[in-house]
Amino acid sequence: EEGPRENARSVSLRIIRGRGEGLAMYLILLGPPGVGKGTQGVLLADATGWERVVTGDLLRTAKDAGTPLGTQAQQYMTAGNLVPDHLIIKMVEEKLSTLSAGTGVIFDGFPRTEAQASAFAMMLEALGRTIDTVVVLEADDEVLSKRISGRRSCPSCGAVYNTVLAPPKKDGVCDVDGTPLFHRADDHADTVQNRLNVYRRETEPLIEYYDGSKAVVHRVPSQEGPDEVQSKVREALGVGE
Ligand code: AP5
Repeated sequence: EEGPRENARSVSLRIIRGRGEGLAMYLILLGPPGVGKGTQGVLLADATGWERVVTGDLLRTAKDAGTPLGTQAQQYMTAGNLVPDHLIIKMVEEKLSTLSAGTGVIFDGFPRTEAQASAFAMMLEALGRTIDTVVVLEADDEVLSKRISGRRSCPSCGAVYNTVLAPPKKDGVCDVDGTPLFHRADDHADTVQNRLNVYRRETEPLIEYYDGSKAVVHRVPSQEGPDEVQSKVREALGVGE
């Protein structure tokens, strides 16, 4: 016979499996470079079936495809600066139009400025949606530097590894699909410092912006390993264990 704990667990699993019904949140993952937005976004999407909109990945794909957007964005990304707002806003607007109605969405890396946040609010209003939740991932600069210097990413499926903290099973190769992993051009030490400065100056003020909005803001300490952080994120959101 099921006890109250098992009952609660099966209810929350049913909610997760219900995908898109009731708990189809529009959620922003906010936090400094290297804090684990990508890592946590993948884990959360796996558990909930929500889609991910990752502006950094969209820009890297555009760059690899040699589109005008990719070519324009490249110089900003390589220097660790923000790509101009109007380019990002147009890109996200186009992406939003491709999302299925009723699905939850995890926005990773967007918005990053107040201009993006207010344009985003207007886009969502036109769709009859708002941002429900903002998850702010937090870690010390020392931890961020370690995470970034060891990061390796899969160009094919987006899986993220770390040579020291979360190595793939076989050196240099993705566990999921066997694709050779790459080291991002903007992950070198001097560029990383600029990305951190840009985050503090342009993006961190958005925490206050969303504190003053209808969205629920959760601050999640992210110094521990990926699974521990994911448990805290899900606990904060009330989407299972
Ligand atoms: P983007 O790709 O968004 O980079 P970022 O914000 O700097 O974030 P990162 O991808 O570096 O880190 P993350 O937090 O996702 O960490 P991850 O999970 O990978 O943007 C790149 C550039 O694009 C920007 O600089 C800008 O030029 C442009 N851009 C993008 N969006 C824009 C916008 N909206 N406006 C203007 N310009 C925009 O983890 C990092 C490492 O740590 C990995 O190796 C991972 O394995 C490891 N790790 C993660 N979590 C843990 C953990 N808990 N314990 C141990 N290791 C961990």
